[in-house]
Amino acid sequence: ATMSGEAELIHVYKGIPFTTRSSPELLKSLHTFDAREDDILLVSYPKSGTHWLAGVITKLYNTQVTLTSPIEFGDISTLEELNKLSSQRIIPTHLDYNMLPPNFKNKKCKMIYISRNPKDTAVSMYHYYRDNPNLPTVDTWTAFFDLFLKGEVVCGSWFDHFLSWEEHENDNNILFLFYEDMKKDLPKTVNEISLFLGLNVSDNDIQDICKKSSFSEMKSDTEKENSDPSHTVCALTSNRKLIFRKGAVGDWKNHFTPKQNRRFEEIFNEKMKLSKM
Ligand code: A3P
Repeated sequence: ATMSGEAELIHVYKGIPFTTRSSPELLKSLHTFDAREDDILLVSYPKSGTHWLAGVITKLYNTQVTLTSPIEFGDISTLEELNKLSSQRIIPTHLDYNMLPPNFKNKKCKMIYISRNPKDTAVSMYHYYRDNPNLPTVDTWTAFFDLFLKGEVVCGSWFDHFLSWEEHENDNNILFLFYEDMKKDLPKTVNEISLFLGLNVSDNDIQDICKKSSFSEMKSDTEKENSDPSHTVCALTSNRKLIFRKGAVGDWKNHFTPKQNRRFEEIFNEKMKLSKM
């Protein structure tokens, strides 16, 4: 991120910082959004593995489905585009549960929530802030660490986001996934997703999907892709190449000082005391 025009990069809506890639008018009109029963929502806090999961899900279908832009991306005309799509929609979003258009809840649309160790999420987001011209400048990891813990980053507090969704953990229409589980045993998670979506996918196809969804495959696909690099499933970036950085579990250990780790754990334990995490 550069210093030019910094002030205009972020605006706050209902207490949550959004980039100007989500217009206030669009955010205001979301509550009337028309959901369809067969919509599938792909929900995450930024940097939790959204593109990875989106890659897997689109490969699971052999019927016509469209991975749309995030529901909070663009202006009102973007919503009209979504309304016009005739195929089944897979809709990504970083919205917290409370801000989700109520029609998705009323129609009991299937939703998949992916989360990741917040320490690794913070580190991933730090690098993203540094590389992404749509986000404000952060000078140091130490400065970003404080902002992250205070929830003064795009999409607000990781804790609030996670807790708002975890409250609905037992809803039949919501599947909870973890980045770390996908790293440990991708075929197992892919199988779980396929059952949840009611798809009939052979073991062979699952193996094949996993191979094509590895970090290195996805990264090189993006680099050679002559298709549209601005097609991302994250409302924060116009460049897919910024997504595939390291793809590892535990990179926080290369960034957190022992003191930062203690402080993080203290706040984690306090905020998450009612959580099952
Ligand atoms: P790192 O910055 O730690 O590398 P999102 O898609 O929600 O923006 O999340 C991006 C994070 O997911 C990045 O983390 C990225 O490298 C990682 N990621 C993307 N594709 C992946 C894959 N196929 N396997 C593992 N991690 C992946």
